[in-house]
Amino acid sequence: MVHASSGDKRAYLGFGLGLRPTHYESILNESPAIDWFEIVSENYLVPGGKPLHYLDRIRAHYPLVMHGVSLSIGAIDPLDRDYLRQLKDLAARLEPTWISDHLCFTGAHGVNAHDLLPLPYTEEAIQHVVARVSEVQDFLGRRILLENVSSYVTYPESEMHEWDFLGEIAERADCLILLDINNIYVSGFNHEFDPREYLEAVPVERVQQFHLAGHRNHGDYIVDTHDEPVIDRVWQLYEAAVRRFGRISTMIERDDNIPPLPVLLAELDQARRIAAAVEHETAAHLMNRVSDPTPPDEQGARAARQGSPPSPLEGEGMEMRGRSPHSVPSPEGGREVGEHLRSGGDGVRGRERPEGADSRSTLRSVETKS
Ligand SMILES: [Fe+2]
Repeated sequence: MVHASSGDKRAYLGFGLGLRPTHYESILNESPAIDWFEIVSENYLVPGGKPLHYLDRIRAHYPLVMHGVSLSIGAIDPLDRDYLRQLKDLAARLEPTWISDHLCFTGAHGVNAHDLLPLPYTEEAIQHVVARVSEVQDFLGRRILLENVSSYVTYPESEMHEWDFLGEIAERADCLILLDINNIYVSGFNHEFDPREYLEAVPVERVQQFHLAGHRNHGDYIVDTHDEPVIDRVWQLYEAAVRRFGRISTMIERDDNIPPLPVLLAELDQARRIAAAVEHETAAHLMNRVSDPTPPDEQGARAARQGSPPSPLEGEGMEMRGRSPHSVPSPEGGREVGEHLRSGGDGVRGRERPEGADSRSTLRSVETKS
């Protein structure tokens, strides 16, 4: 059982960006108004050299979190103890507020797929992952965050929805959740589920961080490319997430087609505005309830008679169809974003896979972004 202070629920950092090498100099010279940075852990595991030189200087001025792509928590191969030792050493150096990776597997029998591959949503997989998360948390001496990946395949063996799988693992392993809002949207489109249903099922008290990113819509499917701004519908889903989960540290992932820092700062401001508007509205609602002696039931009836304001998601009809290829970062690459948001990273870039057949049980595309 882990009792570390770091990585515990409700550490709040504000609004951050994925740290990418192309922005090192701008960050150091201009000290932009960014609350924190997320690094791709694998890019800083080698002692010495320029990456750590820059990172130490940036760390002196900004909080950091570590985001990995190699844990392969769902794999059947034994956990990589050398990798975990490197992670622990880097954490000792950087003192990150938390450490995260993905709820996925990245290979089997010693072969690295360089993709963040989804797991079958089964009780057997839950037990397997929970045991491994406990092992990792005990080794690191802290809770970790697991991120929902975007997916392009499903398994006929699955016994439950992805959101139930994620929530059950978080509860049983006593770990936290990095909820990628864009990934929910992408998977909802590809697998034809309602992303709002996903949000409503995730346990509120487990969510520690949000990711926002852009993607590419190919009509029948969406690829999680992290090379475009955040789109409106992902912003709307983010607004719904803020309403449900409250104040959660939020960051934009951009891994390819990385724009100058001011462009990403503008997207980050969009996230700030949305979160502030939701907080303001919630506070105003609470004030009204305090000043209005009408019992809650009657208030609800009155609101119903007057007509409730439309949900930001209503009318948009979030279509969801198709399924898609997808990719996983590798220790050199990146990630993505949407219409007002972007995401960044000196991260890991997935490798395109050839177009595959259909989804159920056959891996179909794949470039994975976290
Ligand atoms: Fe992500």
